[in-house]
Amino acid sequence: MGENTFFITTPIYYVNDVPHIGHAYNAVATDFIARHHRLRGEDVFHLTGTDEHGLKLQRAAEAQGFSPKDWVDSMEPRWREVWERLDIAYDDYIRTTEPRHETVVAKLLEAVRGNGRDDIYLDSYEGLYCVPCEAYYNAEDLAEGELCPIHERPVEHLREENYFFRLSAYADALLAHYAANPDAVQPESRRNEVLSVIRGGLQDFSISRTSFDWGVPLPWDPDHVCYVWFDALANYITAAGYGDDPARFAELWPANIHSIGKDILRFHAIYWPAMLMAAGLEPPKQVWAHGFLTVGGKKMSKTNATGIHPSELLDAFGVDAYRYYFVREIQFGADGNFSWESMAERYKADLSDGLGNLASRVLAMLGKNFDGAVPDADDRGAAGSLPALAEDVARRYDEAMERVAITQAVGIVWELVAEANRYLVETEPWKLVKAEGGLERAAKVLYASAETLRILAILISPIMPSAAGRLWEQLGIPERLNDQRLGDARWGGLRPGTVTTKGEALFPRLEEEEKP
Ligand code: MSP
Repeated sequence: MGENTFFITTPIYYVNDVPHIGHAYNAVATDFIARHHRLRGEDVFHLTGTDEHGLKLQRAAEAQGFSPKDWVDSMEPRWREVWERLDIAYDDYIRTTEPRHETVVAKLLEAVRGNGRDDIYLDSYEGLYCVPCEAYYNAEDLAEGELCPIHERPVEHLREENYFFRLSAYADALLAHYAANPDAVQPESRRNEVLSVIRGGLQDFSISRTSFDWGVPLPWDPDHVCYVWFDALANYITAAGYGDDPARFAELWPANIHSIGKDILRFHAIYWPAMLMAAGLEPPKQVWAHGFLTVGGKKMSKTNATGIHPSELLDAFGVDAYRYYFVREIQFGADGNFSWESMAERYKADLSDGLGNLASRVLAMLGKNFDGAVPDADDRGAAGSLPALAEDVARRYDEAMERVAITQAVGIVWELVAEANRYLVETEPWKLVKAEGGLERAAKVLYASAETLRILAILISPIMPSAAGRLWEQLGIPERLNDQRLGDARWGGLRPGTVTTKGEALFPRLEEEEKP
């Protein structure tokens, strides 16, 4: 893996669903982390995409009267359009139906089969299968004796002749890997969960199906199609150039972070590393499993009207507030509840009254009293605690992001927002400009405040790229925000004479509040 490379992935989403805020939660959090690493100057490769094979897809297509291919082609744009609205800056978008991926699945299967350890073998299998999970269950793991514990729907009894992957042979290697790399599964509770599953004993799993044909045919036995999870997990190495571009693959692999939801932990932290080991490849450096979003305390689903499409919230709050809310309100790693009320509250307190108000007051006073030009009045002595705090915040923010403590990281940046607002209340520049001889002191206060805004624009750019861009433009700084690095968030970078403008409010009041 390259020294300065940062490879982060989202899961690939099942294309037959319409995106809801649970899926988008992963996309936004991952994009925040990826953008932060760009801000650090790393070569970031952020990968996302769609999972387009399997029985679930084939059945959904049939139910709609489509061929599977036509069906996935018609559904896939519905995901990309949401990512566009959410400012998700992925570097590659993979669809498992692309030829580049089908080639890699075949290569990976051959690599595992040819490893000399007989890791793929033919056997017949009978079991309880959950189609939405695309996974078999043991009878004792079912809810109420017959339901999938995740989907709470009846499982199906399937009997097939399948090829199997000898997962059971990898328990010791997996335990050794996790002992040597204590951070490889995060958070800690998920790591413990994975270790206990491995210690409890691993069963081989079937990697092929014959009862349907929507998948990648096994290269040595095309009557079988590859199991959708084996196929889907391989997307991460397809995009990194496995078997196609060795130099690029050496640069990118192993991935730094697979960002996933807790429901697909076992596939990422047990199946996938074992598959990679069997193929002679390194396991990912880290699997980071976040929690589940609920709505009104309930699981999101299409049937109980809790499946909220991101556009409903985007229309009401805009993209910046959307991104901010989910990374700030839901503790990353834990389950969390979405509610309109908490989102409206965050919007008002943190964005409209917090950052938005800070920017509009400072820019309005600069406009009114200094023709918008930043005064030549950088005086640390008059800037209160802002210079030291700004540097401390930038450092702690970066340190929290390094630990993927994204919720804490955002909270740290808002310490600076709060302090800058407090500083204005304390120094009262609006009074100073009217007092005799007060203009010089007001100039110092406004320099300090505008400089804090510049630093804030840099720090929030991974969280709210669009609002950060608007703030940057209002500050009138000629360099591009995208070219700024974390090191530029150091005190004193704002050049006197920079011509600011008080543009539109960054976070206008919500309509409800305007009603009498
Ligand atoms: N296709 C598989 C992943 C294959 S990755 C090689 C899949 N797709 S999914 O569309 O069902 O889920 C995609 C992601 O969305 C998963 O990380 C899942 O955890 C996440 N979420 C689905 N519902 C969610 C919530 N309610 N809350 C948070 N994340 C949720 O699984």
